[in-house]
Amino acid sequence: MERINLLILSDDLDLRIEIKNLVNDEDFAISGYSGFSPEGKTKIVNKFPEVVLCAIRGDVPESVFAFVQDLLTAARGTIVVLANDSISVELVNKAAQYGIRKVLPIDGIGCDEFSSQIATVYKLEQQRVLDTNEGKKVRCKALGFFGGKGGTGKTTLAIGVAAQLAKAGKRVMLLDLDLQFGDVAMALDIDTKNSIVDLVQDRGGITIENINGFAVEHSTGMSVLCAPKSSEFAEFVTAAHVERIIDIMRPYYEYIIIDLPASFSDTTITACENCEEIFLIYNNEILSLRNARVCYSILEQLHQREKIRFVLNKFEKGLVKTEDFEEMFQTKMFATVPADYAAALSSINRGLAVTVAHPKSAISKGISDIADKIIEAHTGVVPIKEKETKRKPFFKK
Ligand SMILES: Nc1ncnc2c1ncn2[C@@H]1O[C@H](COP(=O)(O)OP(=O)(O)OP(=O)(O)O)[C@@H](O)[C@H]1O
Ligand SMILES: [Mg+2]
Repeated sequence: MERINLLILSDDLDLRIEIKNLVNDEDFAISGYSGFSPEGKTKIVNKFPEVVLCAIRGDVPESVFAFVQDLLTAARGTIVVLANDSISVELVNKAAQYGIRKVLPIDGIGCDEFSSQIATVYKLEQQRVLDTNEGKKVRCKALGFFGGKGGTGKTTLAIGVAAQLAKAGKRVMLLDLDLQFGDVAMALDIDTKNSIVDLVQDRGGITIENINGFAVEHSTGMSVLCAPKSSEFAEFVTAAHVERIIDIMRPYYEYIIIDLPASFSDTTITACENCEEIFLIYNNEILSLRNARVCYSILEQLHQREKIRFVLNKFEKGLVKTEDFEEMFQTKMFATVPADYAAALSSINRGLAVTVAHPKSAISKGISDIADKIIEAHTGVVPIKEKETKRKPFFKK
């Protein structure tokens, strides 16, 4: 089992050492120490400990309860445990009121007992989160757009599908996780200073308020959280951040559309693990076919195979046939989007989703079919197609 990340919080330096000796290092990795100060809070928020262990001898002051309350809002998902030398029923009740999961004695308890009590609280909490997330997942779908080859159309399709879902009245977040070379902002003509890096570095932590603050409300109706403007900032975003961001977004969106880079980085793998479906975007040429096979087998090793949906983009007759793909992977193609270079290029130049710039084009039809299939699979309702209204000619012949 992975060790539980624990941070010890006490203003008393001797007590910090006493507590450290009560925690075994088989189950716990101590990620740091700090006091009940604003700096302490920032440290905790940045370190994302799984458990914060507050230790106090004597009466627990009101300020400590206020600190814990504040902390739990900023560092969601962190569990707080209190160690005290004069436990009373009043203290236990008050601690519970403020969200402290357990009150433990400091004296007369061995290292094994002390550690095992914290580990049990942690496991129970994990189970509870898992259960509630299962519920959330029914309502929210996180969908990754991926492929191991550059330029196959991941971004174009992620943007188009997100815009179509928003047009259908769904609450959509478009998350650009191509952290080094993300170009969603450019493709949608979004001029923002803020990106996912500002979110993960913010002192307030990854909260829905901060996500809303750093994301952009786009004219299509969707929210967009952009990748950093410059590639050197990519390393500030970790896999743990990605998991947390997706998890916190879930209750607020029906669809989280994730644009991914053409590589298996830690953040990409975590995003895939946290998605319900992974759209593998390929083109019908031989190099793409080879690459699809490699990606498929890596995702299979990562136990993500069931989530894969193949999309053949820039489809042109005369190249590798759809049936060849299907035979190779023993699975049906989820969708085929035709090549339409004029529409794709002009929409990029105008800073619009192709489905907005050229709604009647072949590529937009392909994208809108994908969005319809996603809605149908999620809700069981087949979206009603907009009727094609032909303009009447001015003059009768
Ligand atoms: N169906 C299509 N028909 C014609 N051109 C397309 C189609 N889909 C995407 N394109 C064009 O292909 C180019 C690459 O598209 P896009 O940026 O979406 O690919 P990507 O897979 O996200 O690339 P990267 O791996 O660099 O992130 C763009 O110029 C885009 O306009
Ligand atoms: Mg891209």
